[in-house]
Amino acid sequence: MHEITGLDSMRAWSRAEKGRGRRIGFVPTMGYLHEGHLRLVDHARQRTDRVVMSVFVNPLQFGPKEDFTTYPRDIARDRGLAAGRGVDVLFVPEGKAMYPTEPMARVVPGPMAEVFEGAARPGHFAGVLTVVAKLFHLVEPDIAVFGRKDFQQAMLVRRMVLDLDFPIEVEVVPTVRELDGLALSSRNAYLNPDERRAALALSRALRAVEQAWRGGQADAVELQRRSIEVLKAPGVNPEYLALVDENLQPVARPNARTVVVTAATVGATRLIDNVVLGEGIAADPTVRAA
Ligand code: PAJ
Repeated sequence: MHEITGLDSMRAWSRAEKGRGRRIGFVPTMGYLHEGHLRLVDHARQRTDRVVMSVFVNPLQFGPKEDFTTYPRDIARDRGLAAGRGVDVLFVPEGKAMYPTEPMARVVPGPMAEVFEGAARPGHFAGVLTVVAKLFHLVEPDIAVFGRKDFQQAMLVRRMVLDLDFPIEVEVVPTVRELDGLALSSRNAYLNPDERRAALALSRALRAVEQAWRGGQADAVELQRRSIEVLKAPGVNPEYLALVDENLQPVARPNARTVVVTAATVGATRLIDNVVLGEGIAADPTVRAA
């Protein structure tokens, strides 16, 4: 595995590989890798000839009171995990190279970024889309792979690629969970054992909606009401739970493609999760606890 830090070197490598007829898959991350990130690599490897993974904790997407400075970082560990999974290039740009000065021009995500995560984290998605656009220009991939764990983010990236004509296919990979249902997240590292148990309320609430829907309950308001009761577990502060379509618009009569999105705070940690009704929540027996 090569490691590249220079922006020009990154682009030069990609162009050279493309000149040799190779298709490039790209997996952007903020590091502190877990099995969720690595599944995106597996997907990219199946679909392309060379895989680039970026590790960059993007200051632009953190609010002033958020965890930019304390966000977990372990580049040595990330290096080993990425190499072991077959990443060809680990792109680790420096903050000063990405943002020599405070950027003036930024991506304006539009109304899909004003709801849910965007409502809770003003400016977050402008920061995400701006860095993703920069990374796309530096890596120039054929395919970029995102996780469904961050459903709103993935839909916004898809929309940006369409609206701004990036010649890139965006693919979205299902959420990887621990055996008990907890969605893997770098931020799970913040949870103490009691909070870790309480955090299961999110996947339980999603499972409750899915099961009620499969059992014939077809009214979104009723589904939402029942599952919020499940989300209100001791130690859990529910923020939202809603049934939406791929444009994050509320759905009144859910179908198999409807997505249930939720967020809650457990202790000091904000967690998000979602389920596609037709797919359900499948705990993965191959995933070990982080
Ligand atoms: P990060 O949180 O590191 O996530 C990187 C990618 O991994 C995202 O596409 C995310 O959806 C995916 N991912 C995280 N947990 C997952 C899980 N349990 N199952 C499947 N996929 C999972 O998302 C970001 O970084 C940043 O916003 C970024 C896009 C890199 C821009 O800075």
